[in-house]
Amino acid sequence: MLRETLIRLSQQEQLRNIAMHNGLAHSFALRFVAGESLEQAVPCIRELNARGMTATLDHLGENVSSKAEAAEAADAYRGILQEIQRAGIRCNASLKLTHMGLDLGEEVAFDNVRRVVDEAAQLDNFIRIDMESSDYIDRTLQLFYRLFDEYKNVGVVIQSALYRSESDVEQLIEAGARVRLVKGAYLEPPGVAFQRKTEVDVNFIRLMEMMLTRGDYPAIATHDVNMIEAGKRFAQAHGIEASRFEFQMLFGIRRDLQAQLVRDGYNVRIYVPYGTAWYPYLMRRMAERPANLMFVLGNIAREAVSRRP
Ligand code: FDA
Repeated sequence: MLRETLIRLSQQEQLRNIAMHNGLAHSFALRFVAGESLEQAVPCIRELNARGMTATLDHLGENVSSKAEAAEAADAYRGILQEIQRAGIRCNASLKLTHMGLDLGEEVAFDNVRRVVDEAAQLDNFIRIDMESSDYIDRTLQLFYRLFDEYKNVGVVIQSALYRSESDVEQLIEAGARVRLVKGAYLEPPGVAFQRKTEVDVNFIRLMEMMLTRGDYPAIATHDVNMIEAGKRFAQAHGIEASRFEFQMLFGIRRDLQAQLVRDGYNVRIYVPYGTAWYPYLMRRMAERPANLMFVLGNIAREAVSRRP
């Protein structure tokens, strides 16, 4: 119920404007976001690299409403790729197709994302296309396959919450594509998605095992210790070396677990978002863990008390 409310609020324009100008929400966002500029994000990535982890940079933004904004987002990503090269950090990039203009037409998004993937190919880097809500999946996969025909330095994301994902994973493995597996951060109806956590988890393990056995360098993206342990056990039991896959986690979440996996000899990549458009990202993180919301509310209450005359 709370998750539903928070995810719905993440799409509210008015609330977004209020939150973006609220000092507390802003400072809370910085727990999950590596700053508002690329200059602030790069040192965070250097630090992750020094701790034995790679990263994927996400320039926050989604559902842009003009072609100019979409083209600007693509240019920003090309700048990110050049900065990664210049700074010598071990990092690739993740993007959302609605940030590249998918709401304005598939060709708009295709032209923009193609420019980014082309730049990445020239710099020997890699682009991951994030997966958004289920309305976008067909278009995201179609666009991904079009790009993959031309470029191999591009991968996609699959959500274990969705019924369709097993067949999508099968086709992606067949095509030789690189997949990141996640549970899914969006509110989805019972017609398309499992509603119970246990079902999402069972499907996550099923898809993870398919990808570990037959996939090309799969990314297992979760903070769930049960999923991680199941992945480690499966890999060990089937003689799959740790170098053939990676674990991925979000910036600012379960740093202890991130460090432990590195100590245990696993590849770990951290998803590092930055930028000013942090509101919907932050709301999805709150929806995943209501304790985050309690932390914010607790701070608001403390601030209110301390301001009493
Ligand atoms: P689950 O939600 O069961 O949480 C397991 C444990 O992890 C919790 O008990 C808690 O300890 C910790 N945890 C989880 N979320 C937390 C939070 N917000 N704050 C603090 N602790 C938290 N989704 C999507 O739809 N499309 C995408 O492209 C991506 N991309 C992506 C990349 C990467 C690298 C990651 C790690 C995740 C995504 N996601 C995503 C988000 C994903 O779908 C999912 O919503 C979150 O990862 C939370 O699910 P968990 O697998 O962590 O399990």
